[in-house]
Amino acid sequence: MESLLQQIDGYKAEMAAFTALNAEEVELFRIKWLGTKGLVKQIMGEIKQVPNEQKKAFGQLLNEFKLFAEAKLDALQGDNMAAKVQAPSSHSKDDLSLPGDSVSVGSRHPLSLVKNEMVAIFKRLGFAVAEGPEIEDDWHNFGAMNLPEDHPARDMQDTFYIKKPIDGNGPTWLLRTHTSSVQARVMETQKPPIRVICPGKVYRNETISARAHCFFHQVEGLYIDENVSFADLKQTLYFFVQEMFGKNVKVRFRPSYFPFTEPSAEMDISCLICAGKGCNICKHTGWVEILGSGMVHPKVLENFGIDANKYTGFAFGMGVERITQLKYQVNDLRLYSQNDIRFLKQFTGVV
Ligand code: PHE
Repeated sequence: MESLLQQIDGYKAEMAAFTALNAEEVELFRIKWLGTKGLVKQIMGEIKQVPNEQKKAFGQLLNEFKLFAEAKLDALQGDNMAAKVQAPSSHSKDDLSLPGDSVSVGSRHPLSLVKNEMVAIFKRLGFAVAEGPEIEDDWHNFGAMNLPEDHPARDMQDTFYIKKPIDGNGPTWLLRTHTSSVQARVMETQKPPIRVICPGKVYRNETISARAHCFFHQVEGLYIDENVSFADLKQTLYFFVQEMFGKNVKVRFRPSYFPFTEPSAEMDISCLICAGKGCNICKHTGWVEILGSGMVHPKVLENFGIDANKYTGFAFGMGVERITQLKYQVNDLRLYSQNDIRFLKQFTGVV
């Protein structure tokens, strides 16, 4: 017994005095004392020889000894890390010609780059930026926009509803399906002339695939004043396309239908991928649809107390993902939200 106690004291003194210069020496310490065949294990085995009545007290002593060894190892590992971190800076103090530490700088998301460029183009035409909530009520997203109660776009298929009023009172809350809801909020609070663009995130209940996502980004525009005509709409959008894609891109309008505009048109541009020859992106037609547009429906103006006999307006809306796809030839929508750094770091451009 006595000799065991002496041995433990001796070991403790040896460990306390130990210092390590590097990680290898720390590892050697670990193996010697705390390894599977280490001295701590060995001495713990000695408990067999201790008479039963002393086992409890001796067991406690051995436990303390083990904790002592572990604490020392911790301390050695900590010191060693600190030493490592300090080493290069003490060098660089002396040698100023050594290369600096490289700092990796992030880059803007391609959708942000393109959205910022879109906003900048419309700002040059005098449009102001308007923003609004992503959680919207039924009125601003649909009702005010002349979407009748039974319109298919109100169907649960397309819209993420958050809360339906249980007893028929209060608004139905949803995730906005387009940023036309922001146009509604602008018309509610401002008098014509109104000239705004509404960039932002929108949500639709779509199955995620290469071509569809449950959220995407839009830039919508609204211009209301006296004597605003369809020619103004066309000219504004021509300007946008030329600034965004260059002078050689061709544009065409096709008649379309939106509940909030009359007449309505969709706009196509000649396919940038195949220069109009026909490819998968343009489904071999040479044309790609990029936006919806039209003259603001008189009912929409009246919903906000704007005199439809005095004022006219145009509106348009486009997806940022689609514009980015054409600009950078990204063929899978899912890439935008997967956060793969190899994809994201390829994009540079106007901030
Ligand atoms: N709000 C429409 C959509 O999200 C786009 C649009 C805006 C169409 C304005 C015409 C006029 O699909």
